[in-house]
Amino acid sequence: MRILLTGGAGYIGSHTTLTLLEHGHDVVVVDDLLNSKRAAVERVESLSGRTVPLHVFDLRDETRLDQLFARERFDAVIHCAGLKAVGDSVARPLDYYGNNLDSTFAVLAAMARHDVRRLVFSSSATVYGENAPLPCQEDHRPLSATSPYGQTKVMIEQVLTDVASARDGLRVALLRYFNPVGAHPSGRIGEDPQGVPNNLMPVIARVAVGRLDRLQVFGADYPTADGTGERDYIHVMDVAMGHLRALEHLDAMVQPARAFNLGTGTATSVLQLLAAFERACGHPLPYDVVPRRPGDVPANWADPARAQQELGWRATRGIDEMCADTWRWQSQNPSGYPER
Ligand code: NAD
Ligand code: WQD
Repeated sequence: MRILLTGGAGYIGSHTTLTLLEHGHDVVVVDDLLNSKRAAVERVESLSGRTVPLHVFDLRDETRLDQLFARERFDAVIHCAGLKAVGDSVARPLDYYGNNLDSTFAVLAAMARHDVRRLVFSSSATVYGENAPLPCQEDHRPLSATSPYGQTKVMIEQVLTDVASARDGLRVALLRYFNPVGAHPSGRIGEDPQGVPNNLMPVIARVAVGRLDRLQVFGADYPTADGTGERDYIHVMDVAMGHLRALEHLDAMVQPARAFNLGTGTATSVLQLLAAFERACGHPLPYDVVPRRPGDVPANWADPARAQQELGWRATRGIDEMCADTWRWQSQNPSGYPER
């Protein structure tokens, strides 16, 4: 298939592009590079030996998007582009609602004009909010998120479900990622957060490489095995493979839109992840326990059964592999991607 991958220079998008190329698909990327670097796409090209056209513009530029659709005749769209920092979204809600919703509307309008009927969307476990029973199951209602960022995912899922119901033949997979971590095993592409990272794995990786002094563990008094927060970390290469499987499944889907959890089904605590990373990098990593981070839940993990049964997909990589691959990427690229 010829696939438009929005946000293809970003963390999930770059790994997904590589996986799609390796399975014989053609990929065209649109990315405004606000939270990513051109080098990510160039490295995907060198790893795959394939060319990946990169169009640098904001998806909300409907004229350019329309011209691209007219030229390329896409078979499918994978829509990863979006702003994703939870705390930032609380400070700048309008930017998040504006960017994430309007870029999705622009993609949907272009798909309708050019009769493209396959869409895979990057949703998030954040749509389960604070009160969903564990493990999280796709049919849980009501969906509700605790941040403007998360609310954009809830709203976009609803928009996509309504549009797919109304438009004959449109099929949409809503992929709810849990906590993607890790990197391609080559160490050539990985997660390169701009500015100060907020998520646990990038913080640990920066402590390991000496860019940060210590990890702050946000709370050790949760009702979990060791008192620290538990999450369902999933290797980004497994997430990438989930996109491929979803894409292959779209034409067989009975419902116009369907949600799938991409998680492992197991939870790992902050201290367990830290210990695994110490094994990977070979030295101890200093940390302090500090108060809980507002808005954090004690534990969260997926029921991945639906993706296994319907997509034939399951996560195959464990915590040690996630840490080893993150460490390879971080140690080979201590400052992330070069500017160009
Ligand atoms: P990322 O920031 O690395 O990649 C997103 C890319 O989209 C960036 O390169 C950014 O510049 C681009 N972009 C944003 N708005 C754009 C616009 N209007 N036009 C063109 N390009 C635009 O993020 P990621 O971690 O790769 O996440 C990809 C998707 O997955 C996002 O939608 C995110 O919300 C979702 N998600 C991520 C995680 C995670 O922990 N990484 C978890 C759940 C869901
Ligand atoms: C994991 C655990 C923290 C940093 C976020 C988004 C979610 C999704 C994935 C996009 C928690 C603890 C963290 C640190 C710590 N993204 N922690 N010290 O909060 O589960 O999910 O990313 O959709 O929407 O909310 O991930 O990596 O931030 O935190 O102790 O410096 O690590 O308290 O228990 P989270 P995280």
